[in-house]
Amino acid sequence: MAEIVILESSEEASALAAQRILHHIRAKPGHNLGVATGATPLSLYRQMASYAREYGIRIDGVTAFALDEYLGLAPGSPHSFHHALLEHFVKVMGLDPARLRVPNGVAGASGEVGAEFEQEIRGAGGIDCQILGIGSNGHIGFNEPGSSLASRTRVTMLAEETRRDNSSHFSCLKDVPRYSISQGIGTILEARHLVLLAFGSRKARAVAAALEGPVTASCPGSAIQLHPSVTVFLDRDSSRSLSGLDYYTQSWQNQPESPSWRFAR
Ligand code: GLP
Repeated sequence: MAEIVILESSEEASALAAQRILHHIRAKPGHNLGVATGATPLSLYRQMASYAREYGIRIDGVTAFALDEYLGLAPGSPHSFHHALLEHFVKVMGLDPARLRVPNGVAGASGEVGAEFEQEIRGAGGIDCQILGIGSNGHIGFNEPGSSLASRTRVTMLAEETRRDNSSHFSCLKDVPRYSISQGIGTILEARHLVLLAFGSRKARAVAAALEGPVTASCPGSAIQLHPSVTVFLDRDSSRSLSGLDYYTQSWQNQPESPSWRFAR
């Protein structure tokens, strides 16, 4: 079962997630970190930078691999995930921008882009820790409901719900791309550790389906149940629909020892 950590606020949950990930990075400084975009990990990235400074953890050996990219947007486009990761991850963490790898969204809808990105991940020795958010319809990366649980990095079509959710970053809905290049669910499951974050009541339904529902392509997030090393960080609102809520909260609060990855402050 996944380790499920539920805190009152997203800030508190992000602080613990930052510690969890830095614990992995400290154990392997030449770390391959899978990074997600979206609003969810913004505080996580800020807090990772601050804990790394405070505890003298070297992060300059980290190579970051993006989960996904919109198809048809140039890396310099302010709407591209490449741009978002440079701004919100690379700059914040003080990393060399050359250490960020993003699938090439301008190369067109060829199968080769996915295969090349997979090759890059494999050539680097695989992803050590993959950070994940979850869409309100249960998507991870841009693997929408119906995606094969064995899928690899490829072109995917965005669900209308996802386009609407992401439209606030664009001037209007019609500007939101219809396709992406996304790591597949099979690719994501090959990372050595998964850290999933979800905040806010809008995510409650997807969180319950992913953690407690059947493992099904109808909820791509449910695939994390197949992975042996998963930590999930939730706030109060995103955890509301979990039927095991009391159990998860109590087992987190009443564990005999603090987990090894928690930092003393
Ligand atoms: C996106 C991304 C996902 C992200 C999810 C949630 O569109 N492709 O990687 O996890 O939607 O986004 P947010 O964190 O903004 O809710």
